[in-house]
Amino acid sequence: MKNILILGGTGFVGAHVCEKLAREEWDITVATRRENNARNVMHLPGLTVQECDIHDEAALTRLAKGHDAVVNLVAILHGDKQSFQRVHVDLPRKIAAACAASGVTRLVHVSALGANPQQPQSAPSMYLRSKSEGEAVLLAQCSALALTILRPSVIFGHGDKFLNLFAAMQQVAPFVPLACADAQFQPVWVEDVANAVVKALERTHPGAQTYEACGPEVFTLKQLVEISAKLAGINQGKGRPVFSLPHWAASLQARTMEMLPGNPLMSRDNLDSMKLPSVATPGAPGLSALGIEPAALQAVAGDYLDEGSPWHSLLGVRKRANWK
Ligand SMILES: NC(=O)c1ccc[n+]([C@@H]2O[C@H](COP(=O)([O-])OP(=O)(O)OC[C@H]3O[C@@H](n4cnc5c(N)ncnc54)[C@H](OP(=O)(O)O)[C@@H]3O)[C@@H](O)[C@H]2O)c1
Repeated sequence: MKNILILGGTGFVGAHVCEKLAREEWDITVATRRENNARNVMHLPGLTVQECDIHDEAALTRLAKGHDAVVNLVAILHGDKQSFQRVHVDLPRKIAAACAASGVTRLVHVSALGANPQQPQSAPSMYLRSKSEGEAVLLAQCSALALTILRPSVIFGHGDKFLNLFAAMQQVAPFVPLACADAQFQPVWVEDVANAVVKALERTHPGAQTYEACGPEVFTLKQLVEISAKLAGINQGKGRPVFSLPHWAASLQARTMEMLPGNPLMSRDNLDSMKLPSVATPGAPGLSALGIEPAALQAVAGDYLDEGSPWHSLLGVRKRANWK
């Protein structure tokens, strides 16, 4: 039996990874801050949920012991500099140390497209700078590890907080005031990302490999808002008028959202992240190097975007994002 510890296994990507590994009969431990957060995966065969403070290095080392591999999917999208440092930089350092101390030899770390471990300070946002530094600490500590870093663009799929949110917004709003309408993305299907994690676990030789995880097409944010409406059939597929906000208005909108309770739908740091196109780097290894042919967004997203009522969808997204 192959044993795996998954950090962040209760999240959007984590649930898909757990399902795939359960199907392949891995023995899975999912660490969580609160057992209740693991409702979406605890039914899976061979899966054990373990409440743990993974930021406590001794506890993490005890947890890692006896596992063949660790997958790190823990991340935050909003926070201050200290929170990003703790989750995206200090935690990977502790994970690498825990792997070394407990004899784990395989680590898959999910980062983000745009991370640049050679020059973390050149990244435009706290999110991307901390993701870059997290990669850098792992690369510095991985001599005995088979380390795979995956860098996805924005991820779509059942349960996403992205196309579902755009569709839900257009069900209730007469128009969409959109920040960074021209920002570019190369959206990737969550099943392809989960497959990439599983494929990466086949690597056993020490050393680091980095793969970008992107879909086959590049879209602007405005196009993605329009596609979400078309696929969800909103306003006979025509959606709502989309107005591009100028930078000052986008910043004001994000600042206002930051003041609302719970995680904001958009923060000023998110706007900074979108200054960098989230598209594949020419020549960089991508999903095809792992034997995966990524699915096209419009071939897949229609299957889940018209599920249930839009209000249910909006509330579901808010709940998953903020109120776990
Ligand atoms: N979703 C995307 O579009 C996207 C795009 C690019 C890259 N990524 C990367 O893909 C990975 C997975 O993303 P995701 O969308 O699945 O994230 P997610 O749904 O937000 O899940 C993240 C998980 O991390 C855990 N977590 C969050 N904050 C934590 C903290 N302070 N301490 C400990 N654990 C914490 C949570 O587990 P518990 O609540 O159970 O503790 C949560 O289930 C991340 O590295 C993310 O940066 C995602």
